[in-house]
Amino acid sequence: MALTAQAQKAYDGFREAYGDTENVRVFFAPGRVNLIGEHTDYNGGHVFPCAISFGIYAAVRKRTDRKLRFLSANYPQVGVAEGSLDELVPSSDAKWTNYPKGVIWAFERAGEILHRPEVGSLKLDTGFDISIYGDIPSGAGLSSSAAMEVLIGSILRELYGFSMLSNEDLAFIGQYSENEFNGMKCGIMDQFASAMGKEGNAIFLDTNTMVFEYAPLDMKGMKLMITNTKKEHQLVDSEYNLRRQQCAEAMAQLQRVCPDKKALGEFTIEEFEAVKSVITDPVVLRRAKHAVYENQRTIEAVAALKADDLVRFGQLMNESHVSLRDDYETSCTEADILAEEAWKLPGVLGSRITGGGFGGCTVSIVREETVPEFIEKIGAIYLEKVGHEAAFYELEISGGPKELQL
Ligand code: GLA
Repeated sequence: MALTAQAQKAYDGFREAYGDTENVRVFFAPGRVNLIGEHTDYNGGHVFPCAISFGIYAAVRKRTDRKLRFLSANYPQVGVAEGSLDELVPSSDAKWTNYPKGVIWAFERAGEILHRPEVGSLKLDTGFDISIYGDIPSGAGLSSSAAMEVLIGSILRELYGFSMLSNEDLAFIGQYSENEFNGMKCGIMDQFASAMGKEGNAIFLDTNTMVFEYAPLDMKGMKLMITNTKKEHQLVDSEYNLRRQQCAEAMAQLQRVCPDKKALGEFTIEEFEAVKSVITDPVVLRRAKHAVYENQRTIEAVAALKADDLVRFGQLMNESHVSLRDDYETSCTEADILAEEAWKLPGVLGSRITGGGFGGCTVSIVREETVPEFIEKIGAIYLEKVGHEAAFYELEISGGPKELQL
């Protein structure tokens, strides 16, 4: 057997908790990082994420009764948490189990979620025992929740014979479970990136039409670096849901003068500038401005990448950060320090906060030969200014969910 160390942890946890590993199967789903296109996915705009090699591993086996047993090597203090297929409600103690439970719950509504009545309600006949281990740094904004949802979705599909579901379907079911079972009104980007990831490629997705294309990331002497603020973020869900509301409010006002438009992502910059004065609240106006401009930046950034213009791509990343910092107000002091210090280094083409915000990570394009200097300089300044260390990872782009052979 040749499991990676991470997969082995999930597998060993299974044996220790449940006694033996007969008929156990092992699965993986990746986290994601977004290169540009932030807070555009619930505004009908474009995003440009990729799946990353950090993710979640699970060892799992079907049971013969309706029990569910969960174990996470990341939360050893919780131990084995039990549940039942007859009681799919969020729990307040073993909180992480709300993600797998939410996906099982959402499978029962699959036909409705996917607008495909023939899929119907996908109910599990029996429960399962599962042991997981994730190597996505916690609270880093690299989508451990989406990885979990896509992981559980692919496990249910493979173990229970729901072969009518595509990876894209798993993304929609995962998003629904997060929105409706866990109360986080996220867009589709994270689950889509995890479910549809392709090695070596980022995904250029139009969330208005769900048309997407893979874009090879040939970085030509550059590296993509992820830097973790390691800031414990709080109130993320409520602030995130508030941003969504503000964008909806802006859209409602804009529709009075542009009745044909359904989302901020449908506005060009010129169209928006011509009508933006109908938005009465200055905060709401800034939120809408970010959504419109960020969408156009994302389209331009992908065109620049295709034209091998990484310098322009980097400039657009910087503009994205400024807009998230000043107009959308989802950055934080720690991420501002990381990005702003990175901009000062000649070897850095671009740097921005990535993901939902209020903490988490930045993503930067750095000339390969200056990566050691980048880590040393940014690391030292960050420690001095913030008082704790940042963590640095080189981006490795992964494929989507998969079963690992034992
Ligand atoms: C979170 C959400 C995504 C997206 C980003 C911001 O990661 O889950 O849907 O909105 O924030 O771009």
